[in-house]
Order: sequence, then structure tokens, then C-alpha cells
Amino acid sequence: MTGFAVEDLRGLVEPARVYRDVYASPDVFALEMERIWGRAWLYVGHQSQVPGPGDFITTTLGLKPVIMVRHTDGETIHVLHNRCGHRGAIVCYQRHGHARSGLFRCPYHGWIFRSDGSLRTLPSPGGYKNVGFDADDPAFGMPPVARTDTYRGFVFASLSAEGPGLVEFLGEAAATIDNMVDRSPVGEIEVTGKVGHRFRHRNNWKFFIENLHDAMHPMVAHAATGDAVKQVLDKYPDSELGRAEAEVIAPFGGSYDFFDEMGFVGLPRGHGYMGGSKSIFSHYRQFPDYLAAMEESYGKARTEEILSYNKHNTLVYPSCTVRDGIQSIRVVKPVSVNETVIESWTFRLKGAPQSMLDRTLRYSRLINSPASCVGPDDMSCYDRIQEAAEAGTIDWIDLHRHLGRDVQDGERVTAIGTSDLALRNQYTAWVDYMTSDTGVQHGG
Ligand code: FES
Repeated sequence: MTGFAVEDLRGLVEPARVYRDVYASPDVFALEMERIWGRAWLYVGHQSQVPGPGDFITTTLGLKPVIMVRHTDGETIHVLHNRCGHRGAIVCYQRHGHARSGLFRCPYHGWIFRSDGSLRTLPSPGGYKNVGFDADDPAFGMPPVARTDTYRGFVFASLSAEGPGLVEFLGEAAATIDNMVDRSPVGEIEVTGKVGHRFRHRNNWKFFIENLHDAMHPMVAHAATGDAVKQVLDKYPDSELGRAEAEVIAPFGGSYDFFDEMGFVGLPRGHGYMGGSKSIFSHYRQFPDYLAAMEESYGKARTEEILSYNKHNTLVYPSCTVRDGIQSIRVVKPVSVNETVIESWTFRLKGAPQSMLDRTLRYSRLINSPASCVGPDDMSCYDRIQEAAEAGTIDWIDLHRHLGRDVQDGERVTAIGTSDLALRNQYTAWVDYMTSDTGVQHGG
């Protein structure tokens, strides 16, 4: 399919199926980068990654390289296009670091930029006098992205000046971020480590976010892992050895009923989550010293309220998925139509004992890392669909399950956990983004 008019794009998505071009067409991917990733609020990083003036990280928003840097005023966090205003060279390839005096120097001809992106100096400036060059023109700097905002320490940016503000964009999904932060006895969290797990997938970016709420796959795709854990627990019922690991993995061998009861909640703009009162985290053991610290800070009732709020993966469409109960976030980095990097970051609950961070790191190692027991199962399945979509061995990818049984509740739409509603909700937003001329994303 070539030449995507609006009606062409609408034709790729039907209520119960999507056409293979959605995963396999480079033209569709290019439009997604422009119309979805070029408009939505995208997760950039956490403020704790740039604690002091001049501290920075580099990342991408869609395909655009950016730098998130703490300005020399010590307060403002800027997200700048990581490109030189002279001839466009990427200024900084380091993943993280500290810019001395808050200055970035392009390695090609030595133009120097301040931490707000403005051009500070360039070598032999006489060559630019009386030639129509304006050093104050932001185009000759490292321009800030169109919009940057922070929600409880989580920095988001949008490449578009148009569209809803960050709080409106997040909507109910913000409650998951609130809960993650509230789980700290002092109400603060920080990123652990300088780099996240990077997991390179040879498939389209949408497979990962679709799979998060595809509750029909764990009993099959993760069966071998779930069975092995059950055997260990049966064979060594009294041993603590491996029990903590088993606690993490066992729910991935859950039943269809278990996931149905978790339920799915679809939100506007493609966001959504599974669980709420019940999730695969709701039966984790609690650590007495952590509970004591929480109750001292919040009191017993509020502590129970915070810790009983359990969601399994809240998707902030399209760029990240948040797990409040386990304090981790996964960030989606599209590379091409059939290549994606998933970064997984973990957070420390300030004021909480080390046992809580150990649990977070254990989860990340066992579930999210490229060498985990679960993630590679999923990736193998995405690869198979990608190959089929590219080869044309299937034209339409099916989304029929429990179609027509959704329950609309204001802005939310809900269904049992094994419904395909989660995917359909994402495609409602996909069509809105892809066919809208205004960039006003209603979704849901
Ligand atoms: Fe950066 Fe020339 S390309 S200074």
C-alpha cells in the first residue's frame, strides 16, 4: 500500500482487526513518527537522573535525539534537540554525564551551547559579521523541544506546541505515577543506576505495548517458565531458596480466570491498565520494617489504601508503561518499522529499606531484562507476527475476542481481562492520531 490518504489510514483499522501494513509498512511507520510520536507527550526521564546543574542524559523522542539537562539555575530541566545549529551534527553521544559550566561543545567546528540551548560562542566569530547571521536566532542553537513538563518528578516532552497539557493528557493514568511515588515513606523516588536494561526487539514498537494487556498469552507463551517454578515450589515447599524468585515468576503461569478477574480499564488517548484491586502483585509479601516506616509517615489507614492499589502495567500511550507496585518503568524507543528498543528503569523508594529495592531489582532481572525468564518468550512471539506481516502470509491481525461486550463508564471503557479491548482501545487512539489534522488527540 502506498500514498496514505486519511481514508487509506482509516481502512487499515477495523473494529475487530488491523491490516498487516500497520506493523510492516515503512510508510506507515514514518507517519506514526510524525502524527503519534510527533504529537503525544512522551516520557523523557526522571528528574533524579539530572540532580545537579549541567547533569544530563541523552535519549530519543520517536526518532529525534534529545538531551535532558538541568540548567545552571539548578531548577529548570530543559529538553533540547541534540543537534548542532551549525550543520546539524549530533552534539552528544554520551548516554549520561555532566556538562562543565553547563556548556555543550559540538565536536565538529566547536560551537558552544548553554544548557538552555542558546548559542554562547563560536570560533573566529569575525567570519559571521555582516553576512546576515544572527547568533540569537534559536535555530542556530540547540532548540528546546516544543513543550516540556514534569509530573511528580517524571519528565515528559512533546514535539508539538499544540494539544492538551500534560495533566490532561495523562488523565487517570497519572494515578499510577502518584501511587508509585506515594509508596515511598517520604514521598520521593529516584532512579537506580545510570543506564536501564536495554532490550532490542526486531519487530514493530506496537507489539510490546499490545502484549502488556494481552492476557491470553501468559498461559501459553510462558507455560514452560510457570511450570518450572511450580515444580520447584512443590519439590522444596519449606525452602526459602528461590522462593523470592518464584514469587515473582509464578503469576505468569496464572489461569484464564485469574486474568479475567484482574480486568482491563481503557482510558482516553490509548492509555489503559489491568488490575486495580487485584493484580499479579497483590499477594507479594510485605516487609515489616517497610510497613512500619509507611505507617509512621501516613498512618495505618492511608498506608493500607496506598498498598492495596495494585495495577499490572499502566500504559501511557505510546511511550511508556508504569508499574507502581514494583517501582519500574519501561520506555518504548522505536528505531524503524521492524526494530524497537525497550528500556527498563527501576526506582528506589526513598526512606524504604533495602529489601524493597532488592525486590524491584529482582523483578526487573527476572521479567524485564534481555536475559530474563519471561521477556524473550514474548519477543519470540512478536517476531513471528512481524515475519508473517512482512511476508504477507496473513493480511488481517485479529482483535475479535469479547467484541461488543465492553462497558462504557464515562471516559473509561472496561472489560474482563482476557478481552481484546486493550488492543482495540489502542487502535482507537491510533486512528485518532493518524487521521487528525489538528493533533487534538481524544482517543478512548
Ligand atoms: Fe557543529 Fe559545525 S556542525 S560546529
